Amino acid sequence: MNWYPPPLLSQAGRRFLVTGASAGVGFFTAARLAGAGAHVVLSARSPERLEAAAAAIRGARPGASVETLVIDQSSLESVRAGAAALTAGPLDGVVANAGMVHTPGARLESADGNELVLATNVLGHFALLARVLPLLTPGARVVLLGSLATRLSTFRVDDLQLTLGYDFWRAYAHSKIAMQVLGFELDRRLRAADAPVSSLVAHPGYSISGRTPRVPGVNEPDARTRFADSLQAAWSQGKHRGAEVTLHALTSPAAIGGQYWGPRWWMKGEPALHTPTRTSTDPDVGAHFWAFAENATGESFTVGA
Ligand SMILES: NC(=O)c1ccc[n+]([C@@H]2O[C@H](COP(=O)([O-])OP(=O)(O)OC[C@H]3O[C@@H](n4cnc5c(N)ncnc54)[C@H](OP(=O)(O)O)[C@@H]3O)[C@@H](O)[C@H]2O)c1
Repeated sequence: MNWYPPPLLSQAGRRFLVTGASAGVGFFTAARLAGAGAHVVLSARSPERLEAAAAAIRGARPGASVETLVIDQSSLESVRAGAAALTAGPLDGVVANAGMVHTPGARLESADGNELVLATNVLGHFALLARVLPLLTPGARVVLLGSLATRLSTFRVDDLQLTLGYDFWRAYAHSKIAMQVLGFELDRRLRAADAPVSSLVAHPGYSISGRTPRVPGVNEPDARTRFADSLQAAWSQGKHRGAEVTLHALTSPAAIGGQYWGPRWWMKGEPALHTPTRTSTDPDVGAHFWAFAENATGESFTVGA
């Protein structure tokens, strides 16, 4: 059954921030929102790649309302500057999507002294959300990108900086567990504060570039990648389809705070409600990680004060 593209409600008059919008799932999330009438702030670290993404959206949808904002999620200084630039107006949603997917083979640290994958994928978003939360309108949603990888690894609650044991796979899975922990903890804190804003976690299954439409300057896989990825067709999908899970969590009346959305068949398919790992939703783990993140970023993140 071909479920793509599912309907998307009009987003006219709404303003969204999508991090990591210069490529992949983030690009297609931003493009669909702009196509539905929203104003979208596309954020990522490279001005050139951001401009290419914005040009692709404008080219495909004349009249699309997009702007670019350079934020390097691995740098707290860059995140703070980006958050300051966003105060120009209210936000109806934030998609915390930027991520280092191809992680380094050896443990590296960010300019701020945090393990680089955690810094980029999670701590930068923690600091960004701490600063933009006051901009969110009633009914606004935050969607954080998790992963199926959270089922295949464990959370090092006593070694969140991975100083005792690092490998590239653990670093990625660990950062995605942390992202899910953050998303569910944020929603618990929003509920406790009776805030009219919610937080959800979405994962795009296994979404790969060789099964994704060509977009000049944004997605141009070579013939070899197209061929290799086509061999994985049975258990993969394009990133444009993966983006639909994020869009559903962000905009569907059927989605509410604290939920976990993914593709129906885990790796691929239309958006469906899933059950996250127990670690992801454990309030003790959430509180522990929150305190760690405040310390690691120097951000006091109080919800609803
Ligand atoms: N694709 C999947 O199957 C899959 C599965 C599970 C979860 N996810 C999650 O979904 C999200 C998007 O994945 P994807 O497959 O679309 O990845 P992608 O194609 O590699 O895109 C990642 C995006 O994040 C940006 N980014 C990377 N490092 C950054 C930094 N330091 N500062 C700001 N932006 C940065 C990239 O910008 P540049 O162009 O500058 O690198 C790009 O725009 C990630 O959080 C990933 O963990 C993906």
